[in-house]
Amino acid sequence: MSVDPYMRYTIKKHGQKGQPIQGFVTGKILKSKHADWSEGDLFGANLPFSTVQQVTDCGSFQNLTGYVEESQLSLGLGIFGLTGCTAYAAFDLMQVTEKDTVWVADCCGAVGSVAGQLAKNVKKCKQVVGTCGNDLKCAVAKERFGYDAVFNCHEGVLLDKIKALAPTGIDFCLELVGGTEHLSAAVESMAPHGRIALGGAISGYNLTQPDKTEWKLDVTLNEMTILFHQIKLEGFKAMPWLSGERGSFLEDMHAWYKAGLIKPEETVVEGMNKWPEAFAMLFQTGNEHHVGKVVVEV
Ligand SMILES: NC(=O)c1ccc[n+]([C@@H]2O[C@H](COP(=O)([O-])OP(=O)(O)OC[C@H]3O[C@@H](n4cnc5c(N)ncnc54)[C@H](OP(=O)(O)O)[C@@H]3O)[C@@H](O)[C@H]2O)c1
Repeated sequence: MSVDPYMRYTIKKHGQKGQPIQGFVTGKILKSKHADWSEGDLFGANLPFSTVQQVTDCGSFQNLTGYVEESQLSLGLGIFGLTGCTAYAAFDLMQVTEKDTVWVADCCGAVGSVAGQLAKNVKKCKQVVGTCGNDLKCAVAKERFGYDAVFNCHEGVLLDKIKALAPTGIDFCLELVGGTEHLSAAVESMAPHGRIALGGAISGYNLTQPDKTEWKLDVTLNEMTILFHQIKLEGFKAMPWLSGERGSFLEDMHAWYKAGLIKPEETVVEGMNKWPEAFAMLFQTGNEHHVGKVVVEV
């Protein structure tokens, strides 16, 4: 079972007492009457959490047979699942190349651990900078995830530090933290024609907004910087890439994985009753509880 930050929203909006939480899972087909599926096939899907279940609608199913081994099913939630795909989607959307200086905000988690390796090992980007919440994670991101330079976003002024590291500007930023400090630092640190892929805004997911059903975050941005530097800022969801509607995520990621260019990193939590604890880890910044993708094994 996966824990993903977006579930903060879906649980709040659609969750019902007494009903299972719904989210991404990976598993094995035990019996099938469906023409496209056979016993023993491995899959990823968005389902109510349950160890065994009968399913009539396979619309959200992704066939992972041949991509992951049964002993490594959890990779279907990480590098071959939503979070690996989010990094893939951002790089595809903004056509990132070796000419780009890259900044990934939230570089040590599930998406960030793949994004750094994608930038450094696959796209061979000019310079890859990351930011995260504590010094231990900075060291891990530099050692394992391909980042040339990583710093703690809670120390010093974010924009000053980015500018010092990339004096000619950032060409591509994968922004996952949100809020004025991060998003405006992304805008202000851009090189001319820079691109910002806005994939998440986790700093705002726990804000208390009792009278609002939708998330609405108030962020101050300098519009003239966006205009004069001709910056592209685009929000995106990974789903079109995960479903295969755009790109060729599974094939590409599998080839990079086989070639050793993308290595998975996971924090595994054991047992369904630990799911809330695992979920809560995602919303704490600066802790050392997890790096890479958090999964719950049942
Ligand atoms: N667009 C899409 O389709 C899509 C799909 C999947 C995920 N996402 C987004 O991608 C982002 C990362 O997701 P993930 O699964 O890879 O999570 P993750 O990075 O594994 O875990 C979340 C991390 O966010 C940081 N964080 C938490 N609260 C914060 C705060 N208040 N301020 C600053 N940082 C904070 C923490 O890292 P530090 O301790 O290092 O600060 C935490 O470990 C999220 O915003 C998520 O919504 C988007």
